[in-house]
Amino acid sequence: MSLIEKLQWRAAVKKFDPSKKLSAAQLDTLLSAVQLAPTSLGLQSFKVIVVQDAETKEKLRAVGYNQPQITDSSALFVFASLTTLDEDFGKKFIDLVAATRGIERASLEGYEQMVLGTLSSRSDEQKVAWSHKQAYIALGVLLSAAADLGVDAAPMEGFDAEKFDEILGLKEKGLTTSVIAAVGFRAEDDQYSKMIKVRRPKEELFIHI
Ligand SMILES: Cc1cc2nc3c(=O)[nH]c(=O)nc-3n(C[C@H](O)[C@H](O)[C@H](O)COP(=O)(O)O)c2cc1C
Repeated sequence: MSLIEKLQWRAAVKKFDPSKKLSAAQLDTLLSAVQLAPTSLGLQSFKVIVVQDAETKEKLRAVGYNQPQITDSSALFVFASLTTLDEDFGKKFIDLVAATRGIERASLEGYEQMVLGTLSSRSDEQKVAWSHKQAYIALGVLLSAAADLGVDAAPMEGFDAEKFDEILGLKEKGLTTSVIAAVGFRAEDDQYSKMIKVRRPKEELFIHI
């Protein structure tokens, strides 16, 4: 299948088959895809909590508008933004760049100033909103990577973020929930994935200049 055929196949599945689980290799491929998602300045100011524990999924479903995808999928990916992006966070990122590329930290001074300047010019609220946007890019990469693997991934915003934070203990970890995705395998009788995909025509969606 071509990429476009795979994207046609993918769907925001409503009914997962709870007996079908991701293999360790499939899960690892999806984690790699999320890890490789691009982010602004490369900061990756979010974490992803991968929930496979049945009891935790039950609790999350109760505050996720009782959506069955949360419990019936194999793994629930919870994208959570960091709530503090301070100078220390920026400096540690530059440490990582220097160590990964094996270069002198001093050679990254200009980059460091740009990172620290960007962080200090935004309020905490703006930084969290910015991190949420980065998390959504990673969500998009996850959805495409899952389609490539023939794995179902259903993006979801229908949940109470504050309650998710409470159940997962995110506040203490300096995190807050951005968006979630249920990942697994569609049930044979999932009706949604059998429906014709609805998309606006290209003439309406794109403006060529
Ligand atoms: C950010 C986001 C949040 C969504 N939230 C939900 C949700 O809470 N529950 C749900 O059933 N579908 C949810 N959807 C699925 C969309 O309704 C679906 O992607 C859209 O109708 C297009 O269908 P398709 O993904 O099957 O092509 C969400 C999709 C996105 C991208």
